[in-house]
Amino acid sequence: MNIRTHDSINDTSEKNLILKLRELAGETDSAAAHPDKGIQVFDSTMAQFIEENEDFCELLKLILNDRKIKLNHFASLLPRAAQFALRKRNIDDYAEFNRDKWKETLSTLVKDPAFIASLYNRQYATNRPYQRYKALAALSSALTNTPIRVYDLGCSLNTGLSGLLLEDFYSKTKDSFEDLTPNESIKTLLKKNNFEIHQDIGVDLQDLSIEEGIEWVIACEYFGNYDRTKEALLRHNSLLSQNDDRLLTLTRDITDSSLPRLLKNAANNNSQRRIRTIVHASMVFYQLTEAGQLAVVENINQVLQAGDIFLELRFIDESDYYREYNMESVVKFKTSEGLSRDYQWLLWNSIYGERSKSGADYDIVMEKLCELAQ
Ligand SMILES: C[S@@+](CC[C@H](N)C(=O)[O-])C[C@H]1O[C@@H](n2cnc3c(N)ncnc32)[C@H](O)[C@@H]1O
Repeated sequence: MNIRTHDSINDTSEKNLILKLRELAGETDSAAAHPDKGIQVFDSTMAQFIEENEDFCELLKLILNDRKIKLNHFASLLPRAAQFALRKRNIDDYAEFNRDKWKETLSTLVKDPAFIASLYNRQYATNRPYQRYKALAALSSALTNTPIRVYDLGCSLNTGLSGLLLEDFYSKTKDSFEDLTPNESIKTLLKKNNFEIHQDIGVDLQDLSIEEGIEWVIACEYFGNYDRTKEALLRHNSLLSQNDDRLLTLTRDITDSSLPRLLKNAANNNSQRRIRTIVHASMVFYQLTEAGQLAVVENINQVLQAGDIFLELRFIDESDYYREYNMESVVKFKTSEGLSRDYQWLLWNSIYGERSKSGADYDIVMEKLCELAQ
């Protein structure tokens, strides 16, 4: 397993946090800036605020130390916590704030319990239906005529699986998706809509089903996307409450060694045919410590049987989140000897997956999927 932790969890230095915020604000050449202009202004002002405000700086050091959270991840949590707290106070024009307005707002925000509690407790948890689940839908479709069970680790609101199960995936994605793989293979697979979902089980650490949880997921959107996404997420959340007994959401830490047992107990094996299991983890591993990543891989290994598949969507370079084509869909195949190496199947232009192209192992993955489908 390729464990990637570019920034150490032992790095609680405010200097590196400030540097990271400056990178995200587009003030250095070492990494791509955050794509949302409003968040760039926030990050830039926040960096200066930490430099000038000793009390807040001490608090941040304490939180970083207590949480053992990676610095990159924490830097990205700051604007989300701000958005969450401001929306609670019905403030919705912050995407247009200039530095002076942010300076003034930060001095009250750093005393706001909703802001501070988010920094202490929350993982960030975006989850738009369809966008990041195209590789999963295509992979499921490639396994023609095979009942499939999906375990989605770090599922957030579980709207990713609800999109797969409850609606026509292709019709929802075709307009906003450019496929540069040979013969538009991913689009073709989505169009076939071949998949037969036997069961979809999502697992997340946070119970996001309650009102606060949904508000948090929406607050994890870019400032400029908040209102548009809110509508889509609420609609999907109502789909989730339709009580389709193939769809289940469990609240659990995926690093916990009891996970394989929990998933086996939740699995419905009521089928005459071989059910193929896909474990899916989309944008989750980068939130885990090195030990956590190893524990999850061990859990996945226990859950999968020969012929099953692990599919991950992740950053290629964790120190440069927003660089173009910095996202990869990687597949591991379970054989009688254990989990295979990583096969890089697809590359994606951004975390929203508007454009895909072939990864280094594209042909091998397509061949192996064909073999599994027979
Ligand atoms: C960025 S979101 C990705 C959500 C979804 N998979 C997607 O791609 O849209 C990461 C999710 O992983 C969850 N997560 C992080 N660490 C976890 C853990 N140890 N156990 C379970 N879930 C975890 C977070 O709560 C969050 O909802």
